[in-house]
Amino acid sequence: MSVTEALGKRRTYYALNKELPVPTDEVKKLLQDVTELVPDAFNMHSQRIYVALGDKQDELWDKIYDAFGGKVARDKIDGFKAAAGTVLYFYDEDVVKGMQDQFPSYAANFPVWANQANGMLQINIWTALRELGIGANIQHYNPVIDDTVKALFNVPDSWKLIAQMPFGGIVADPDPKPKEDITKRVQFFE
Ligand SMILES: Cc1cc2nc3c(=O)[nH]c(=O)nc-3n(C[C@H](O)[C@H](O)[C@H](O)COP(=O)(O)O)c2cc1C
Repeated sequence: MSVTEALGKRRTYYALNKELPVPTDEVKKLLQDVTELVPDAFNMHSQRIYVALGDKQDELWDKIYDAFGGKVARDKIDGFKAAAGTVLYFYDEDVVKGMQDQFPSYAANFPVWANQANGMLQINIWTALRELGIGANIQHYNPVIDDTVKALFNVPDSWKLIAQMPFGGIVADPDPKPKEDITKRVQFFE
């Protein structure tokens, strides 16, 4: 599958189950490889992921439900809990601070770049998972769940939680997206 084909198959999959179409070790390898391959500003290696699997996956989403004190619908949370795992995306603020000290004239840019690199990591993992036949979606229950996640996975204090990506076997495909007139957003000048 080419990168563009894989990107075309990547969608927001909400209906997921715990049956992965490939061995879990293959998924772990993919997550390591993609994290190593995705670029970062100044090659600063600010990106971090923790991956909840098995009992930790269920515990994560039960605790996320608890963190909202019933304000998020149980069936919505159970939809994410039904997935095989969740990628938790962070960046390390200590790395960012170190770069700010080293390159003061770019200080304001480093947190922005860390967020951008996190987005690059997210889209690449999202697409690479789909290439393996695994569906995923992206959620943002942070910052409400920050302390919950830190306690559950013993996350270092300097790691900032950016996003949560439940992934799993595909139960149902999303509706096709209407084709847009892309010339409104992409223009060429020669
Ligand atoms: C930066 C970003 C943040 C998003 N946040 C959420 C979110 O918090 N919850 C959610 O269900 N979907 C979220 N999405 C998914 C988008 O709604 C979805 O990608 C978009 O509607 C296009 O649909 P597709 O992913 O099927 O192509 C997010 C997507 C991006 C790129």
